[in-house]
Amino acid sequence: MSIITNIEDLRQRSKKILPRMLFDYVDGGSYDEQTLRRNETDFDALQLRQRVMVDTSGKRLGRSVLGQSYALPVGIAPTGMAGLYYPEGEVVALAAAEKWNIPYTLSTLSICSLEQLRGSTDYPFWFQLYIMKDRAFTESLIERAAAAHCSALVLTVDLPISGQRHRDIKNGLSVPLRFTGGGLFDMMLRHGWWRRQMFAKSKSFGNLAGMASAENSKLMGLAQWCASQYDPSLSWDDVAWIRKLWKGKLIAKGVLNAEDARHAIDHGCDAVIVSNHGGRQLDGARSTISSLRSVATAVNRQAPVLLDGGIRSGQDIIRALALGADLCMVGRPYLYALSAAGPAGLDTLFTILKNELEVCMALMGIRDLSEVDETCLENPRYFSREY
Ligand code: LAC
Repeated sequence: MSIITNIEDLRQRSKKILPRMLFDYVDGGSYDEQTLRRNETDFDALQLRQRVMVDTSGKRLGRSVLGQSYALPVGIAPTGMAGLYYPEGEVVALAAAEKWNIPYTLSTLSICSLEQLRGSTDYPFWFQLYIMKDRAFTESLIERAAAAHCSALVLTVDLPISGQRHRDIKNGLSVPLRFTGGGLFDMMLRHGWWRRQMFAKSKSFGNLAGMASAENSKLMGLAQWCASQYDPSLSWDDVAWIRKLWKGKLIAKGVLNAEDARHAIDHGCDAVIVSNHGGRQLDGARSTISSLRSVATAVNRQAPVLLDGGIRSGQDIIRALALGADLCMVGRPYLYALSAAGPAGLDTLFTILKNELEVCMALMGIRDLSEVDETCLENPRYFSREY
């Protein structure tokens, strides 16, 4: 087996292990995947400022966000279906988050349920919510998240309708998974994956089990049912409605400009996540790193600003912190790592990110992440000029 030294190695490993249908779901984006690519490549434009002869021996990588202290400035983003990538994948990921003392976000479309996660540990986790057409269902999820003592609700605001992912359609992706034709042949070749997955307890969307309206899904497939549940009538009034129902911390995920960030704060959100859904929604939208500075300026330290989309190294995390992020979230890297080797894969991922952060800090003369600001970049206004 080849040695893993970076996130691309984890990606390659997961590509070998996973059935193509599952690899494409995580690796792909919507339409022509322009935004997906931009999220990664735009980081390259920001040049880090080298500093020498600074004693950085007692480096501090901790972060405090929404009243919680974390050991690293990185968290696990919500992604659908983690339990299909590794048995009980969400439980495994939450255990890794606890071990590394970082935030973990459970997706509405997870395989393991809210209750399974809460039953596995007392470590606080966040719950990601879609506002679905079935408002009673939405409300019941909020109640379940409160009963599971979730420490924050992460409200997805960029999914009133689903952006088309060509790869998923071509591969015939459905949940529970169904393999036919070439997909079946491809799956049978992935011995490691199907052998371990055969014994997984959960194989469908855990949070949706037993929902009356989800029973209709038997006719159309649960994934299509979810798509039919997204609601194009969503507006900021719905955020105000959620704000009344949820007493804890509320995070708006999916803002990409100053105006929407201000709307989120004005509607009672306690934090925002600069996100374009990992390039899976509006293809052609700008990258998250290019949007960050204007969002952070608009929020003006009134609330934490988080970012996801394109983070592939510790250097990328420093770039995001320099432009105003309090914490970064990783989605694809987490699913690559989980698929590659379960708990050991996640350990590898966070070891890589931590080492990269530490070396980067040493070579930039940064002792404590609280020192990171625009002066850590040679060209912090790069994207302000561009837009
Ligand atoms: C996606 C949904 C689950 O991006 O948010 O696939």
